[in-house]
Amino acid sequence: MVVTYDPTRGGPAVLGRHATTDAGLYSTCLAFQNLWLAATAEGLGVGWVSYYREEFLRDLLSIPATVRPVAWLCLGPASRLQQTPDLERFGWRDRRPLAEAVHEERHRTSTRGGQA
Ligand SMILES: Cc1cc2nc3c(=O)[nH]c(=O)nc-3n(C[C@H](O)[C@H](O)[C@H](O)COP(=O)(O)O)c2cc1C
Repeated sequence: MVVTYDPTRGGPAVLGRHATTDAGLYSTCLAFQNLWLAATAEGLGVGWVSYYREEFLRDLLSIPATVRPVAWLCLGPASRLQQTPDLERFGWRDRRPLAEAVHEERHRTSTRGGQA
């Protein structure tokens, strides 16, 4: 499944987009995040394929120049769902304490440089 975003749809005055241009992209991500949660609840697996260039996918599916491919997803039956995220399982990234990601009143500079 390829999820796309058309910034021209709905005209120039769309709620949320007049002040924050990227709001449309954020909305698109929220939409397929909800699909992801629903799929997981149904026992289906979802994977995000991001190793491609936008132009490649655009050509493959004849996506018009004004429409952005946002996510290329694999969706289907999974033999099992992992309890531990792959990044943590393979030792690529550590789980961060929640307190490190939550900022109160003001943004605090991270003490662990590089990890967003
Ligand atoms: C922005 C983004 C890009 C990703 N790109 C890939 C990718 O190219 N290849 C891959 O195997 N997993 C990629 N992943 C990870 C998986 O799609 C997914 O997060 C993982 O299977 C865990 O899914 P789950 O949370 O439903 O268990 C990406 C995840 C994100 C958030």
